[in-house]
Amino acid sequence: MTDTTALPITPPTTPVVARTREELREARSALDDGDVAVVMTMGALHEGHATLIHQARKAHRHVVVTIFLNPLQFGPKEDLSRYPRTFDADLEICTAAGVDLVFAPTPDVVYPEGDPGVRVSAGPLGDVLEGQARPGHFDGMLTVVGKLMHLTRCSAAYFGQKDAQQLLLIRRMCRDLDFPVRVVAVPTVREPDGLAMSSRNTYLTPSDRETALCLSAALRAGADAAAEGPSAVRRAARAVLVREPLALVDYLVLVHPDTLVDVPEWYRGEALLAVAGRVGTTRLIDNLPVLVGPGGGALETFTQP
Ligand code: PAJ
Repeated sequence: MTDTTALPITPPTTPVVARTREELREARSALDDGDVAVVMTMGALHEGHATLIHQARKAHRHVVVTIFLNPLQFGPKEDLSRYPRTFDADLEICTAAGVDLVFAPTPDVVYPEGDPGVRVSAGPLGDVLEGQARPGHFDGMLTVVGKLMHLTRCSAAYFGQKDAQQLLLIRRMCRDLDFPVRVVAVPTVREPDGLAMSSRNTYLTPSDRETALCLSAALRAGADAAAEGPSAVRRAARAVLVREPLALVDYLVLVHPDTLVDVPEWYRGEALLAVAGRVGTTRLIDNLPVLVGPGGGALETFTQP
């Protein structure tokens, strides 16, 4: 038996931090071409982001994390100014996860000419659900995701199932506009009590947090009824939400994962059960991919990307 106790343990190295385009170009050129995965974030990193990074780390030679609070995807009445900024803690998470490079620009680096005149249009899929509540949000999101894909020259990009409509639109953008990037979905990471992790959870008071549990509980109840068909799913989920009047539900839908159109009663197969609502001052979203029909129930992610 070899005694391994004396082996030196290499402490994790802090990633290179690039703030400008020049710094990014230099740091990026030091990484091998061909196998760079990116995890894009708005900062305030939590276990959900860390899981994306770990998945990317396992499958790729290099991992780049972007930390950029993109003003283009926030409406005038939204929470841009109060969004949590925790760069030092974010960097610690990136260090522990073995990230090679962190790109953390300011808006003038990403948008040197100011508001970009040309933007990526999300099209009709960007007008429903979250897009209805947040006009222009998905155009702003896709515009920055497209720019960051170009700037980081990534071959793969990891996104959370937590933001299902965002994930769908990014996949569509890469396909429809021929981005040479493989989009990988990572299942939603939850607190032990079911609450989906989110940077916005820090806004919740302890009693808001209790109230917020009805969202994931509703999805779970809906998924448990999946064998009986779409109306049973919707009914079971709604029954949980109506018991919690402090959650102001914006929508609860069971839709086709590719079209975001309500699935009809005869439908059997994979569907997206999604919910959005306001708890206190905080808008929260959550979803579960479900298999509707015999043997149905919750899925981690959709089988057909
Ligand atoms: P942000 O909300 O910081 O999320 C960054 C990534 O982490 C997204 O892909 C999101 O889906 C994923 N994520 C967040 N919470 C998660 C959870 N509980 N489980 C799994 N994944 C989770 O989404 C954005 O930033 C922005 O729109 C961005 C894509 C960075 C463009 O600005």
